[in-house]
Amino acid sequence: MAFQTIIEPFRIHSVEPLVMTTPGQRRAALAAAGNNLFALRAEDVLIDLLTDSGTGAMSRDQWAAIQRGDESYAGSPSWYRFLESVQELFPFEHVIPTHQGRAAEKILFTVLGGEGKIVPNNTHFDTTRANVEYTGAEAVDLVIPEGHDPASMHPFKGNMDLDALDALLTEHGPERVPVVFVTITNNSGGGQPVSLENLRGVRAICDRHGIPLFLDACRFAENAWFIREREPGHADRDVADIVREIASLADGMTMSAKKDPLGNIGGWLATNDAALAERCRTLLILTEGFPTYGGLAGRDLDALAQGLRESVHHDYLRYRTRSTAYLGEALAQGGVPVVQPIGGHAVYVDAGRLLSHIPPLEFPGQALAVALYEAGGIRGCEIGSVMFGLQPDGTEHPAAMELVRLAIPRRTYTQSHVDYVIEVCLSVAERAHELTGYRITSDPRPLRHFTARFEPVDT
Ligand code: F0G
Repeated sequence: MAFQTIIEPFRIHSVEPLVMTTPGQRRAALAAAGNNLFALRAEDVLIDLLTDSGTGAMSRDQWAAIQRGDESYAGSPSWYRFLESVQELFPFEHVIPTHQGRAAEKILFTVLGGEGKIVPNNTHFDTTRANVEYTGAEAVDLVIPEGHDPASMHPFKGNMDLDALDALLTEHGPERVPVVFVTITNNSGGGQPVSLENLRGVRAICDRHGIPLFLDACRFAENAWFIREREPGHADRDVADIVREIASLADGMTMSAKKDPLGNIGGWLATNDAALAERCRTLLILTEGFPTYGGLAGRDLDALAQGLRESVHHDYLRYRTRSTAYLGEALAQGGVPVVQPIGGHAVYVDAGRLLSHIPPLEFPGQALAVALYEAGGIRGCEIGSVMFGLQPDGTEHPAAMELVRLAIPRRTYTQSHVDYVIEVCLSVAERAHELTGYRITSDPRPLRHFTARFEPVDT
């Protein structure tokens, strides 16, 4: 008989100590950090759910692969192993390695962006939006309306609004829209997947307008797993096969290998367009390095080659999505509003609803994130009006949602760590009405959320 408990499909081989702190120490750390959790020393954090980016545990076989790393400047065997692993899942002709995802974005939008250009996406992540806007282009988010409703149970809330996309492309055409992006899974929108059917729809619209389709594919394996689980007709498919189908619908991709590819660093840009690849490689050499290593050491390329193979294992993805859902379901059962359905890499607490007494521009997400750290040493990340409220023209508009993301590093924390997180979150939620909002006292831009300082509005 098949047993029901879904276990971690690994055992622990090397451990890192966690440092316990007192509430007094955490208050002092917050004061020194200007209430910005990015400014904390990581050692002052007990459970670090700031991001799932580069924070996962590598496997024994990845550490072994590191030892095979060949540091030849050009044409290293590590590069060819990396290339083979990438093309096994994403058979694009031109693969350009970069040190992380935003380097790929910077290069691509430097070539494709510029004043007057418009880049649609289901939802741009912060660095993607910033890299588009930095060139003078406009970043437009066109996720389906359900994607903005934290309570909606739509199985593919990352889907692109096809009518809105068609209307935008009809109005502006390929002269102004150089590329259409789809982010899988939709990180800023709650880690929600995009269905294959929706991707096919986007592809058809792009074809009609003669515009290339690119994927921001950081969490491709989790997205493919959700397709297998939720989209009719795919339940028996191999995830790697679903990934290849996703790739076949696109003309290119950007990737942060710090997410699903199970690396601590890395990324790439890929395309079938030889002329575009040529222009990107020229920029790559300027800032990242030679095209067979990008900004990476040979050993990083080998770790990623192995990580990519592990990223599509079904036992791993079953455990990964189940353990994230375990946290989300416990919070929801305890009365904490969370974005539904639970995404793959994170649980998103709906701070706008939990702290409805705090107006959006007093940053309810920031208030909740600070309170979780103060109460239990848990570091989450505001994804709301701190991150997205400041417009390129300097005005402030509330973001579509006020969320706190509790991102789960891959293969890193155990179920009892998560049980502790649940206990802390429920205790903070019980006194949510006592929390007050924040104002920003210094906000460098763009991407102010990384370095801004905050003080409570009641001081
Ligand atoms: N695209 C998406 C959807 C992302 O989530 C990220 C990073 C990037 C691009 C940029 O990649 O960090 O390698 O330069 N997201 C991280 C996060 C930082 O916390 O979600 P990068």
